[in-house]
Amino acid sequence: MKRILVTGGSGFIGSHTSINLLQKDYEVVIVDSFINSSRFFYERIKNLAKRIDSNLLRRIILFEGDIRDKNLLEGIFRKSINEGKRIEGVIHFAGLKAVAESLKEPSKYWDFNFIGTFRLIEVMEKYECRTLIFSSSATVYGCSKDFLITESAIVNPINPYGHTKAAVENFLKNIYDSQPDKWRIACLRYFNPIGAHSTGMIGENPNGMPNNIFPFINQVAIGKIERLEIFGNDWETSDGTCIRDYIHVMDLAEGHILSLEFLFENECRFINLNLGTGIGTSVLELVNIFQEVNKVKVPFIYTDRRVGDVARIVADNGFALSILNWKPTKTINEMCKDGWKWQQVKG
Ligand code: UD1
Repeated sequence: MKRILVTGGSGFIGSHTSINLLQKDYEVVIVDSFINSSRFFYERIKNLAKRIDSNLLRRIILFEGDIRDKNLLEGIFRKSINEGKRIEGVIHFAGLKAVAESLKEPSKYWDFNFIGTFRLIEVMEKYECRTLIFSSSATVYGCSKDFLITESAIVNPINPYGHTKAAVENFLKNIYDSQPDKWRIACLRYFNPIGAHSTGMIGENPNGMPNNIFPFINQVAIGKIERLEIFGNDWETSDGTCIRDYIHVMDLAEGHILSLEFLFENECRFINLNLGTGIGTSVLELVNIFQEVNKVKVPFIYTDRRVGDVARIVADNGFALSILNWKPTKTINEMCKDGWKWQQVKG
């Protein structure tokens, strides 16, 4: 049974991936500073694990702290070795992801996202753990005009958040190139993860005002926010609203496990992988489907375009499909249904 360190394992994608890891017989060591999550949310993860199988609880452990704290990270690796169970791989989610905030406070983003990864790599190297999944983003493609974006598209981020993701990818490539017979690294470029665990016990839990569309729709539907603003209805798309590639968070979690297994089972390598469905959905379609599936109202108005938005961002996921034997299985209806269930459970 392999032991995996999950940085940011109490966050949105980290929590779903941690549950999936436990179900696939891994031991999970979470390190989380709770800057974008909470201890309460971690308890939710444990409750869900218990509900699935109480034995799973014995295989999950939490360290509260920041990955920029090298002593903390070293302590985690050392403790594992002392227990006779070294950490064999890392899934690295910990980081900041609000575009607008990154424009106001770029240093903070370089510190958390870049320095955080830098420290992690130093410690992984020291303890000879050289298998890493990095949580990257389609944001690295910037304003790509490609109909379907492949991994070979130009990397050209347009905001500090995107620059930190692209810089970490480059840094990791340098690390791999320095010892190509030792490192196994996959950078997973997520498109738009939404939805929640089908039990409704865990889901996206933003602190304060949501930045992304799905938690916004949820909070309008439940009455916490009066109405949704749709950013522009004059885009060059069929209904004038932007098109994105929404992917169910459970399909995304599965993509992480399969990527990890792919790295373990194959020769050392460095890969970038798009994780999306390859299907585009407009903002208006998303709102309409959410209303229909959940039988709720989501009042909205059209406002100006948001600075930095692009009309259409959809993945060519062919590479992930072929090498991982992975296929997203959940429809946009299921994403809306599961995401709303979580909002109702959470209140
Ligand atoms: C955004 C970021 C992206 C980041 C990702 C992380 C921007 C420009 N992009 O992606 O860099 O990797 O989040 O999660 O911030 N929308 C509305 N009203 C809203 C919110 C969003 O109409 O209140 C629209 C947006 O214009 C967009 C779509 O919904 O067309 C999705 O928006 P969002 O969830 O913020 O994701 P991205 O913009 O794709």
